[in-house]
Amino acid sequence: MELELSLEFLRVVEEAAVAAARTMGEGNAHKSDQMAVEAMRRALDTLPIEGTIVIGEGERDEAPMLYIGEKLGAGISSGLSLRKVDIAVDPLEGTNLCATGAPNSIAVLAASEQGGLLNAPDCYMEKIIVGPSCKGVVELDAPVKVNLRAIARRMDRDIEDLVVIVLDRPRHKKLIEDIRAAGARIRLIGDGDLSAGISVAVVGTGVHAVMGIGGAPEGVLTAAALRCLNGEIIARLVLDTPELQERAKGMGVRDPKRIYTTSELATGKQILFAATGVTDGNLLRGVRFFGDGTRTSSLVMTMTSAKVRFIDTVHLEKRPDVKVRFQ
Ligand code: FBP
Repeated sequence: MELELSLEFLRVVEEAAVAAARTMGEGNAHKSDQMAVEAMRRALDTLPIEGTIVIGEGERDEAPMLYIGEKLGAGISSGLSLRKVDIAVDPLEGTNLCATGAPNSIAVLAASEQGGLLNAPDCYMEKIIVGPSCKGVVELDAPVKVNLRAIARRMDRDIEDLVVIVLDRPRHKKLIEDIRAAGARIRLIGDGDLSAGISVAVVGTGVHAVMGIGGAPEGVLTAAALRCLNGEIIARLVLDTPELQERAKGMGVRDPKRIYTTSELATGKQILFAATGVTDGNLLRGVRFFGDGTRTSSLVMTMTSAKVRFIDTVHLEKRPDVKVRFQ
Protein backbone atom coordinates (compact mmCIF):
# COMPACT_ATOMS: atom_id res chain seq x y z
CA MET A 1 0.00 0.00 0.00
CA GLU A 2 2.66 2.47 1.12
CA LEU A 3 4.76 2.47 -2.02
CA GLU A 4 2.02 2.14 -4.60
CA LEU A 5 -0.04 4.96 -3.07
CA SER A 6 2.69 7.44 -2.02
CA LEU A 7 2.65 9.44 -5.22
CA GLU A 8 -1.14 9.32 -5.33
CA PHE A 9 -1.47 10.73 -1.82
CA LEU A 10 1.24 13.28 -2.59
CA ARG A 11 -0.95 14.55 -5.41
CA VAL A 12 -3.91 14.83 -3.03
CA VAL A 13 -2.11 17.04 -0.51
CA GLU A 14 -0.47 19.08 -3.26
CA GLU A 15 -3.84 19.86 -4.81
CA ALA A 16 -5.38 20.79 -1.46
CA ALA A 17 -2.42 23.02 -0.62
CA VAL A 18 -2.49 24.84 -3.97
CA ALA A 19 -6.24 25.47 -3.69
CA ALA A 20 -5.92 26.84 -0.16
CA ALA A 21 -2.82 28.89 -0.95
CA ARG A 22 -4.75 30.89 -3.54
CA THR A 23 -6.77 32.31 -0.62
CA MET A 24 -3.74 33.19 1.53
CA GLY A 25 -4.19 36.47 3.34
CA GLU A 26 -7.83 36.96 2.29
CA GLY A 27 -8.79 36.87 5.94
CA ASN A 28 -11.45 34.25 5.30
CA ALA A 29 -10.51 31.07 7.18
CA HIS A 30 -13.76 29.35 6.25
CA LYS A 31 -13.15 29.89 2.54
CA SER A 32 -9.52 28.71 2.79
CA ASP A 33 -10.69 25.53 4.51
CA GLN A 34 -13.44 24.98 1.98
CA MET A 35 -11.04 25.28 -0.96
CA ALA A 36 -8.70 22.72 0.62
CA VAL A 37 -11.54 20.34 1.50
CA GLU A 38 -13.07 20.43 -1.97
CA ALA A 39 -9.72 19.93 -3.71
CA MET A 40 -8.82 17.08 -1.36
CA ARG A 41 -12.17 15.36 -1.85
CA ARG A 42 -11.91 15.66 -5.65
CA ALA A 43 -8.39 14.24 -5.67
CA LEU A 44 -9.16 11.43 -3.21
CA ASP A 45 -12.08 10.35 -5.35
CA THR A 46 -9.74 9.61 -8.27
CA LEU A 47 -7.47 7.26 -6.29
CA PRO A 48 -7.59 3.50 -6.89
CA ILE A 49 -8.86 2.78 -3.37
CA GLU A 50 -11.95 2.26 -1.26
CA GLY A 51 -11.13 4.87 1.35
CA THR A 52 -12.86 5.67 4.63
CA ILE A 53 -12.22 8.81 6.66
CA VAL A 54 -11.72 7.55 10.22
CA ILE A 55 -10.78 10.82 11.83
CA GLY A 56 -11.16 14.19 10.22
CA GLU A 57 -11.46 17.79 10.93
CA GLY A 58 -14.64 19.80 10.87
CA GLU A 59 -17.22 18.42 13.29
CA ARG A 60 -16.11 20.49 16.24
CA ASP A 61 -16.19 23.90 14.59
CA GLU A 62 -18.61 22.97 11.83
CA ALA A 63 -16.05 23.88 9.24
CA PRO A 64 -16.52 22.53 5.72
CA MET A 65 -15.36 19.00 6.22
CA LEU A 66 -14.36 15.64 4.99
CA TYR A 67 -16.52 13.97 7.58
CA ILE A 68 -15.80 10.94 9.69
CA GLY A 69 -17.20 7.86 7.97
CA GLU A 70 -17.13 9.45 4.50
CA LYS A 71 -16.23 6.96 1.77
CA LEU A 72 -13.92 8.12 -0.99
CA GLY A 73 -11.97 6.74 -3.90
CA ALA A 74 -12.55 5.32 -7.37
CA GLY A 75 -13.53 2.01 -5.78
CA ILE A 76 -16.56 3.68 -4.20
CA SER A 77 -17.80 5.53 -7.29
CA SER A 78 -17.15 2.63 -9.72
CA GLY A 79 -18.31 -0.21 -7.49
CA LEU A 80 -15.01 -2.03 -8.24
CA SER A 81 -13.43 -3.92 -5.39
CA LEU A 82 -10.22 -1.97 -4.68
CA ARG A 83 -7.79 -1.75 -1.76
CA LYS A 84 -9.48 -0.71 1.49
CA VAL A 85 -7.67 2.17 3.13
CA ASP A 86 -8.38 4.14 6.32
CA ILE A 87 -7.58 7.83 6.11
CA ALA A 88 -7.03 10.61 8.65
CA VAL A 89 -7.27 14.09 7.17
CA ASP A 90 -6.76 17.72 7.92
CA PRO A 91 -7.16 19.35 4.51
CA LEU A 92 -5.96 22.65 5.94
CA GLU A 93 -4.15 22.50 9.26
CA GLY A 94 -3.92 26.12 10.35
CA THR A 95 -6.90 27.71 8.60
CA ASN A 96 -6.29 31.01 10.44
CA LEU A 97 -2.60 30.86 9.55
CA CYS A 98 -3.51 30.60 5.86
CA ALA A 99 -6.13 33.31 6.13
CA THR A 100 -3.58 35.70 7.61
CA GLY A 101 -0.54 34.51 5.64
CA ALA A 102 1.18 33.37 8.83
CA PRO A 103 3.69 30.50 8.80
CA ASN A 104 3.13 26.75 9.14
CA SER A 105 -0.22 26.01 7.56
CA ILE A 106 -0.18 22.66 5.73
CA ALA A 107 -2.49 20.28 3.88
CA VAL A 108 -2.11 16.86 5.39
CA LEU A 109 -3.35 13.28 5.50
CA ALA A 110 -2.30 9.87 6.73
CA ALA A 111 -3.40 6.46 5.49
CA SER A 112 -3.14 2.87 6.66
CA GLU A 113 -4.68 -0.51 6.11
CA GLN A 114 -8.17 -0.85 7.61
CA GLY A 115 -8.20 -0.32 11.37
CA GLY A 116 -4.72 1.25 11.45
CA LEU A 117 -5.68 4.74 12.63
CA LEU A 118 -7.74 5.63 15.69
CA ASN A 119 -11.39 6.15 14.90
CA ALA A 120 -12.59 8.92 17.22
CA PRO A 121 -14.82 11.97 17.19
CA ASP A 122 -13.39 15.37 16.35
CA CYS A 123 -12.75 16.43 19.93
CA TYR A 124 -9.81 17.81 21.87
CA MET A 125 -6.82 15.76 22.97
CA GLU A 126 -4.26 16.22 25.75
CA LYS A 127 -0.79 15.69 24.30
CA ILE A 128 2.88 15.51 25.05
CA ILE A 129 5.12 15.11 22.01
CA VAL A 130 8.84 14.41 22.07
CA GLY A 131 11.51 13.39 19.59
CA PRO A 132 13.28 10.05 19.11
CA SER A 133 15.87 10.57 21.86
CA CYS A 134 13.15 11.10 24.51
CA LYS A 135 10.98 8.07 23.82
CA GLY A 136 9.76 6.44 27.00
CA VAL A 137 10.69 9.22 29.41
CA VAL A 138 7.55 11.38 29.60
CA GLU A 139 4.20 10.66 31.23
CA LEU A 140 0.98 12.52 30.51
CA ASP A 141 0.06 12.97 34.17
CA ALA A 142 3.55 13.61 35.55
CA PRO A 143 4.30 17.13 36.83
CA VAL A 144 5.58 19.38 34.04
CA LYS A 145 8.93 19.82 35.77
CA VAL A 146 9.46 16.06 36.04
CA ASN A 147 8.84 15.62 32.31
CA LEU A 148 11.10 18.53 31.42
CA ARG A 149 13.87 17.21 33.65
CA ALA A 150 13.59 13.81 31.96
CA ILE A 151 13.71 15.37 28.48
CA ALA A 152 16.69 17.54 29.41
CA ARG A 153 18.58 14.56 30.84
CA ARG A 154 17.98 12.48 27.71
CA MET A 155 19.04 15.37 25.50
CA ASP A 156 22.12 15.95 27.58
CA ARG A 157 21.33 19.56 28.41
CA ASP A 158 19.75 21.75 31.09
CA ILE A 159 16.02 22.41 31.37
CA GLU A 160 16.86 26.06 30.58
CA ASP A 161 18.07 24.94 27.14
CA LEU A 162 14.76 23.34 26.15
CA VAL A 163 12.15 24.97 23.92
CA VAL A 164 8.56 23.81 24.40
CA ILE A 165 5.80 24.67 21.92
CA VAL A 166 2.40 25.45 23.44
CA LEU A 167 -0.80 26.63 21.74
CA ASP A 168 -1.52 30.14 22.96
CA ARG A 169 -4.88 29.49 24.64
CA PRO A 170 -6.37 30.55 28.02
CA ARG A 171 -6.72 26.85 28.90
CA HIS A 172 -2.91 26.62 28.98
CA LYS A 173 -2.38 29.32 31.62
CA LYS A 174 -1.29 26.87 34.32
CA LEU A 175 0.79 24.78 31.89
CA ILE A 176 2.65 27.90 30.73
CA GLU A 177 3.27 28.98 34.34
CA ASP A 178 4.62 25.52 35.17
CA ILE A 179 6.95 25.45 32.17
CA ARG A 180 8.23 28.93 33.06
CA ALA A 181 8.70 27.94 36.70
CA ALA A 182 10.70 24.90 35.61
CA GLY A 183 12.97 27.20 33.60
CA ALA A 184 12.37 26.00 30.03
CA ARG A 185 11.79 28.42 27.19
CA ILE A 186 8.41 28.54 25.45
CA ARG A 187 7.31 29.19 21.90
CA LEU A 188 3.64 30.15 21.96
CA ILE A 189 1.89 29.45 18.68
CA GLY A 190 -1.46 30.76 17.50
CA ASP A 191 -2.36 27.53 15.68
CA GLY A 192 -0.78 24.44 14.20
CA ASP A 193 0.27 21.92 16.84
CA LEU A 194 0.54 19.25 14.13
CA SER A 195 3.45 20.82 12.26
CA ALA A 196 4.92 21.69 15.66
CA GLY A 197 4.72 18.01 16.62
CA ILE A 198 6.48 16.92 13.45
CA SER A 199 9.24 19.52 13.99
CA VAL A 200 9.96 18.10 17.44
CA ALA A 201 10.93 14.78 15.86
CA VAL A 202 13.29 16.38 13.33
CA VAL A 203 16.74 17.15 14.67
CA GLY A 204 17.88 20.72 14.13
CA THR A 205 14.51 22.46 14.27
CA GLY A 206 15.32 23.80 17.75
CA VAL A 207 12.15 22.58 19.45
CA HIS A 208 12.16 19.79 22.00
CA ALA A 209 8.56 19.16 23.06
CA VAL A 210 4.93 20.09 22.41
CA MET A 211 2.62 20.17 25.42
CA GLY A 212 -1.04 20.96 25.94
CA ILE A 213 -4.48 20.38 24.52
CA GLY A 214 -5.14 20.51 20.78
CA GLY A 215 -7.34 18.74 18.25
CA ALA A 216 -7.66 14.94 18.28
CA PRO A 217 -7.40 14.61 14.47
CA GLU A 218 -4.13 16.55 14.64
CA GLY A 219 -3.04 14.13 17.38
CA VAL A 220 -3.73 11.03 15.27
CA LEU A 221 -2.01 12.61 12.26
CA THR A 222 0.96 13.50 14.48
CA ALA A 223 1.11 9.88 15.65
CA ALA A 224 1.18 8.66 12.03
CA ALA A 225 4.05 11.06 11.26
CA LEU A 226 5.92 10.08 14.42
CA ARG A 227 5.72 6.38 13.62
CA CYS A 228 7.72 7.24 10.49
CA LEU A 229 10.10 9.57 12.37
CA ASN A 230 10.52 7.48 15.55
CA GLY A 231 9.16 10.22 17.79
CA GLU A 232 6.56 9.84 20.52
CA ILE A 233 3.15 11.25 21.38
CA ILE A 234 1.37 10.37 24.63
CA ALA A 235 -2.25 11.47 24.56
CA ARG A 236 -5.75 11.24 26.01
CA LEU A 237 -9.02 12.21 24.31
CA VAL A 238 -10.94 14.98 26.05
CA LEU A 239 -14.39 13.41 26.22
CA ASP A 240 -15.95 15.86 28.63
CA THR A 241 -19.63 15.56 27.73
CA PRO A 242 -21.94 12.54 27.77
CA GLU A 243 -22.61 13.12 24.03
CA LEU A 244 -18.90 12.94 23.16
CA GLN A 245 -18.45 9.86 25.33
CA GLU A 246 -21.39 8.20 23.60
CA ARG A 247 -20.05 9.05 20.13
CA ALA A 248 -16.58 7.82 21.06
CA LYS A 249 -18.06 4.59 22.44
CA GLY A 250 -19.89 4.05 19.16
CA MET A 251 -16.51 4.32 17.41
CA GLY A 252 -14.94 1.71 19.66
CA VAL A 253 -13.41 3.86 22.42
CA ARG A 254 -14.26 1.80 25.51
CA ASP A 255 -12.29 3.69 28.16
CA PRO A 256 -12.83 7.47 27.83
CA LYS A 257 -9.82 8.18 30.08
CA ARG A 258 -7.41 5.90 28.26
CA ILE A 259 -3.89 7.17 27.69
CA TYR A 260 -2.70 6.35 24.19
CA THR A 261 0.85 5.91 22.93
CA THR A 262 2.00 6.67 19.39
CA SER A 263 1.43 3.13 18.15
CA GLU A 264 -2.00 2.98 19.80
CA LEU A 265 -3.14 6.14 17.99
CA ALA A 266 -1.69 4.91 14.71
CA THR A 267 -1.66 1.12 15.03
CA GLY A 268 -1.21 0.35 11.34
CA LYS A 269 1.34 -2.13 10.04
CA GLN A 270 1.59 0.18 7.06
CA ILE A 271 1.47 3.94 7.52
CA LEU A 272 1.71 6.61 4.89
CA PHE A 273 1.90 10.29 5.82
CA ALA A 274 1.79 13.17 3.34
CA ALA A 275 1.82 16.93 3.87
CA THR A 276 2.32 19.94 1.60
CA GLY A 277 3.16 23.42 2.85
CA VAL A 278 0.51 26.05 2.22
CA THR A 279 2.35 28.97 3.83
CA ASP A 280 6.10 28.97 4.52
CA GLY A 281 7.01 26.98 7.60
CA ASN A 282 9.79 25.38 9.61
CA LEU A 283 9.95 22.22 7.54
CA LEU A 284 8.12 23.02 4.33
CA ARG A 285 7.95 26.02 2.05
CA GLY A 286 4.57 27.41 1.14
CA VAL A 287 3.04 27.24 -2.34
CA ARG A 288 4.69 29.58 -4.83
CA PHE A 289 2.86 30.78 -7.93
CA PHE A 290 5.10 32.01 -10.74
CA GLY A 291 2.99 32.61 -13.82
CA ASP A 292 4.23 29.56 -15.74
CA GLY A 293 3.21 27.26 -12.96
CA THR A 294 3.25 26.47 -9.29
CA ARG A 295 5.88 25.06 -6.96
CA THR A 296 5.08 22.99 -3.90
CA SER A 297 7.13 21.59 -1.07
CA SER A 298 5.98 18.34 0.53
CA LEU A 299 6.90 15.66 3.01
CA VAL A 300 5.92 12.08 2.21
CA MET A 301 6.81 9.36 4.68
CA THR A 302 6.23 5.61 4.62
CA MET A 303 6.80 3.55 7.74
CA THR A 304 7.47 -0.02 6.60
CA SER A 305 9.68 1.02 3.73
CA ALA A 306 11.30 3.59 6.07
CA LYS A 307 11.43 6.51 3.69
CA VAL A 308 11.22 10.20 4.56
CA ARG A 309 10.95 12.15 1.35
CA PHE A 310 11.10 15.94 1.05
CA ILE A 311 9.59 16.55 -2.37
CA ASP A 312 9.83 19.72 -4.40
CA THR A 313 7.33 19.68 -7.27
CA VAL A 314 7.00 22.09 -10.16
CA HIS A 315 3.48 21.97 -11.59
CA LEU A 316 3.69 23.42 -15.10
CA GLU A 317 0.99 25.25 -16.94
CA LYS A 318 0.96 23.76 -20.42
CA ARG A 319 2.57 26.67 -22.20
CA PRO A 320 5.01 26.10 -25.08
CA ASP A 321 7.64 28.48 -23.64
CA VAL A 322 7.40 27.36 -20.01
CA LYS A 323 10.61 27.62 -17.97
CA VAL A 324 11.68 25.56 -14.96
CA ARG A 325 14.04 27.15 -12.48
CA PHE A 326 16.58 25.13 -10.50
CA GLN A 327 15.18 26.30 -7.16
P1 FBP B 1 -7.42 24.00 12.06
O1 FBP B 1 -6.92 25.23 11.46
O2 FBP B 1 -7.05 22.79 11.28
O3 FBP B 1 -8.87 24.07 12.37
O4 FBP B 1 -6.69 23.75 13.47
C1 FBP B 1 -5.76 24.63 13.99
C2 FBP B 1 -5.42 24.24 15.41
O5 FBP B 1 -4.63 25.25 15.99
C3 FBP B 1 -4.71 22.90 15.56
O6 FBP B 1 -3.35 22.95 15.23
C4 FBP B 1 -4.96 22.57 16.98
O7 FBP B 1 -4.81 21.20 17.25
C5 FBP B 1 -6.38 23.05 17.18
O8 FBP B 1 -6.61 24.05 16.18
C6 FBP B 1 -6.64 23.64 18.51
O9 FBP B 1 -8.00 23.96 18.62
P2 FBP B 1 -8.54 25.36 19.18
O10 FBP B 1 -8.20 26.41 18.16
O11 FBP B 1 -9.99 25.14 19.31
O12 FBP B 1 -7.83 25.61 20.46
